[in-house]
Amino acid sequence: MFVVRGGRPLRGRVSVSGAKNAALPIMAAALVANGTSVLHGVPDLVDVTTLSSVLRSLGMNVDRRPDGAIALSTCDEQRCLADYELVRRMRASVCVLGPLLGRRGRACVSLPGGCNIGHRPIDLHLKGLRALGAKITIDRGYVFARVDRLVGADIYLGGSFGSTVTGTCNVMCAAVFAKGITTISAAACEPEVVDLGNYLNAMGAKIEGLGTPLLRIEGVDDLNAVEHTVIPDRIEAATMLIAAAMTGGRLQVDNLVPAHLAGVIDALRMMGVMIEIHDHTAIVTAPDTLRALDITALPYPGIPTDVQAQFTALLSIAEGISVVTDKVFPDRFMHIPELMRMGANVRREGACSIIAGIKTLSGACVMASDLRASAALLLAALAADGESVIRRVYHLDRGYERLELKFNKVGADIARVVDQPETMPASLQLSEEEQQPLAVDSSDSPPPPKFLSRRESGQPKFK
Ligand code: UD1
Repeated sequence: MFVVRGGRPLRGRVSVSGAKNAALPIMAAALVANGTSVLHGVPDLVDVTTLSSVLRSLGMNVDRRPDGAIALSTCDEQRCLADYELVRRMRASVCVLGPLLGRRGRACVSLPGGCNIGHRPIDLHLKGLRALGAKITIDRGYVFARVDRLVGADIYLGGSFGSTVTGTCNVMCAAVFAKGITTISAAACEPEVVDLGNYLNAMGAKIEGLGTPLLRIEGVDDLNAVEHTVIPDRIEAATMLIAAAMTGGRLQVDNLVPAHLAGVIDALRMMGVMIEIHDHTAIVTAPDTLRALDITALPYPGIPTDVQAQFTALLSIAEGISVVTDKVFPDRFMHIPELMRMGANVRREGACSIIAGIKTLSGACVMASDLRASAALLLAALAADGESVIRRVYHLDRGYERLELKFNKVGADIARVVDQPETMPASLQLSEEEQQPLAVDSSDSPPPPKFLSRRESGQPKFK
């Protein structure tokens, strides 16, 4: 868990790591290459470790080299089973489906199962692969896919909630080997899909239209391994911009691609946040007062659903009423009850949350439910008066590379504490009598909130 002493403006310089959501499908796509692929900028994350295990179970060598690059090569092409025990830990494991089918002609991949951010079917992935000629059945919780030779087809990949990011990746990775031409309309335009497409093209694939909703793919027989550098993580970058805005700070955020953050930067500016852009750097300065704003999470180039929770934390201390809508994952609001424990004034209405901004959040004990919710709670804790305890930060470790260390370098006070009460020294353990339930259980609670003046709290102020 994290123990966070809030109310400290973040000041200084931070650098963004490589994008998790680009690195994962690109690592999976290394399955299709002849030779050894070398990937630079793959962040050191739990999700990357999980996918490495999946790929090893599929007959690949996966090694992190001393310079940080990841090298991948195939040693056994016979293996085609991605087991439930690994896939259930990370949904993105499903990204091996398309590459396996394309290269090895068969795949047996566990269905990922439930998810805290809402219903996440893979029907569009299967629809696209079936259109290419794959025979697919679902049996005992697994997707069984088989094909002799994939054949190009015209595929529409739009669903009720727009395009599918990993679905586009899967179909693209299979279609690069399909005989003839494949078109994918309503393809996802996310920069991570473009990065995967560029990687495949560098290996010899013929994909046109990357970054647009219409892809044209001419099948090839073979792809040869290359070196590739993964794009910077736009979600981590957005989280850092929001951290500066929330804590009344000024941060220089290096290694970002401003074009990938256009919607986020525009929204922050409309809230009064000052952002200067120089090439791959943004300098963000918090205003005295944050203004309320209505935002909607949409497929790219809209504001990403993966920063919806962080924006909700930010808007909870903006002056006025804001409405946050998520059109990609309309049930992704598990962070709200926890933010409300910190004083946020939020009401959920279907796929929207309505936020009446308050001046200052107060430190509290909260529980992270998923990756981006944990980032939102960390941001709220950084901005809050007093001390917060955030439990289940293993969600954060899935997708952010040492975020607490990056924030501590620019003035935050975040301590990572091993949360194992059973290893507590005997002298600190409660007697049986003391363990009886109390009206308020304070054993885990931070000290009562200390109210700082507005100036002391270092937060954006209402006029
Ligand atoms: C990816 C990202 C995730 C991000 C999401 C949306 C990775 C590893 N993960 O997830 O961080 O939040 O994009 O930007 O890149 N849907 C269907 N049928 C399908 C597939 C999706 O109905 O077959 C729906 C989903 O339920 C959701 C919407 O389409 O409502 C978008 O999902 P999708 O783009 O597929 O998300 P992921 O690729 O799983």
